[in-house]
Amino acid sequence: MCGIVGYYGTKDAVPLLLKGLKRLEYRGYDSAGLALLSDTGIEIMKKAGKVMDLERVVDDSVLKGTIGMGHTRWATHGEPNDTNAHPHLDQTGKFALIHNGIIENYSSIKTYLEQKGIQFRTETDTEVLVQLISFLYSENGKSFEKAVRKALKQVVGTYGIIVLFADEPQKMIAARHGSPLVMGVNSGEYFIASDASPIVDHTREVVYLEENEYVLINESGHRIKRLDDEKELNRPTSRIDFSIEEIEKGNYPHYMLKEINEQEHTITDTMRGRLRLDEGSVHLGGIQEHLLRIESARDIYITACGTSWHAGMIGKYLLEEYAGIPVHLEYASEFRYRNPIVDGKSVIIAISQSGETADTIAALKKAKDMGALTMGICNVVGSTISRETDCGIYTHAGPEIGVASTKAFTAQVSVLFMLALHFGRKNGLNKAKGVQLAKSLAEIGPFVKNIISNTESIEAIAKDTVEADNFLYLGRGMGFPIALEGALKLKEISYIHAEGYPAAEMKHGPIALIDEKMPVVFLAPHDKTFEKVVSNIQEVKARRGKVITVTNKVTKELEKLSDYIIEVPTPHSWIFPILSVIPLQLLAYHLAVLRGCDVDMPRNLAKSVTVE
Ligand code: AGP
Repeated sequence: MCGIVGYYGTKDAVPLLLKGLKRLEYRGYDSAGLALLSDTGIEIMKKAGKVMDLERVVDDSVLKGTIGMGHTRWATHGEPNDTNAHPHLDQTGKFALIHNGIIENYSSIKTYLEQKGIQFRTETDTEVLVQLISFLYSENGKSFEKAVRKALKQVVGTYGIIVLFADEPQKMIAARHGSPLVMGVNSGEYFIASDASPIVDHTREVVYLEENEYVLINESGHRIKRLDDEKELNRPTSRIDFSIEEIEKGNYPHYMLKEINEQEHTITDTMRGRLRLDEGSVHLGGIQEHLLRIESARDIYITACGTSWHAGMIGKYLLEEYAGIPVHLEYASEFRYRNPIVDGKSVIIAISQSGETADTIAALKKAKDMGALTMGICNVVGSTISRETDCGIYTHAGPEIGVASTKAFTAQVSVLFMLALHFGRKNGLNKAKGVQLAKSLAEIGPFVKNIISNTESIEAIAKDTVEADNFLYLGRGMGFPIALEGALKLKEISYIHAEGYPAAEMKHGPIALIDEKMPVVFLAPHDKTFEKVVSNIQEVKARRGKVITVTNKVTKELEKLSDYIIEVPTPHSWIFPILSVIPLQLLAYHLAVLRGCDVDMPRNLAKSVTVE
């Protein structure tokens, strides 16, 4: 939620910041703004809408300088208009601030400052922070750095911020608590950003700020400190591990389509070097040190949000079926406020593409405080979850920019298959079966390619169903989480109402919705659920619903019952969940395009949900 970018150097900052904002736009896109610092003061320009709307009005004869910052917003407090867009200024116009996060106690601070005569212009929580810094600056000995530290100690909530001050035009301060910040370093130039994507154009050397740290940049270099300690910290740089091509759209019309197509390789990349085909087992380096504790865990909790939660459900089913370990699946937002039975004998697995989801981080912290061993399954290297867990497994799917998660989901599911295979082999799954399962994972690439090459037939189904206002997605067993994921993909990018249900639950209520206008997508793998799913298809057909069946083997009966069939051949039916979600991603994509929706930046959403 919200992207922030800062530049401190010798080049013209405006084009650099605008390009950076475009890279961060997937984090929030309802308004954007820039602030430039020079000897004559601070100039700001902000605009409701996307970064390109800001770009259109930027006057580079006014906005000039080599130190500046930019923001792209996902509104929390105050509607997305020009006034509420960041950067925000204090009353004197000398302090400017951009912020990603939420200041929870903004209301009491605002009341206090108003009593002191300070006037507010916006409805945002962020303005409170910049006004507070300014107030503390004049009250407490006029030190910019001290005022920022002091203000940050008084606020409750989360923040990644950059602050500029007109009276000290050679300084930039950035701080984090609960929202990520990365600093790129390149001989005298500094780049601060919410993630590394705006930095990679300029340098690969980065420093990830840790929780409750801030950096002060000036002519003589940079200093990193904790907010509660005067000691300067020495932080070595890390290297960004992705290329510019990976974060560009290339010849694709949308990131989402690019990312769907990339799955031909990304799923294999996730498993590369980890599958032991001759042994029918798996080697997962990132959890090696903690294997004994994981293997002897009394129970496993999987916690996540959204699509990652759907992956978690597949993980639960797999670990219970193949490894015989009891697994609790928890929405992170619920887990964090419940009293779960977690202790030192529990393992908690947090699944998160971004590694920055606020609820998932909070759930993880809670389980850690209760004594559990923590494991992350993350895509973004160096993200908060990946750094705060005891151990973890990276999904290695490469940067995912489209707001609708696609390749990150199949990568998460692939990791969970490997975990199930690993613990399955420890807990009695025999070698021959292990070899068979491992081989089917290793051979998946051409099967993915085959599905993607059928995109035209899926587009044809989209054309026939584009007028529908509602969709149902039904599945049993592993088909159920895929039904949930298919429905989520459709609603988030096409705004068509869609629900995922266990197929058998249909007759307990949703069946009332079925008529000739309702497309019903069935997941029908040839496994122990097949015959039951076919019966459910019969029930829908009897009520004249429009049946779209996704199966790994077409039968005469399915042909007779289905209006449309999407065949997803599999080397083994156990990997049906990884493969069968891909046509559902494509169906959602084509429906959204046909309905003229902004596929990569759907309304009201943002890629990384860093507020609760
Ligand atoms: C997926 O398409 C969604 N945009 C969303 O549900 C997402 O999966 C969720 O916000 C969790 O994000 P994370 O994986 O980065 O934690």
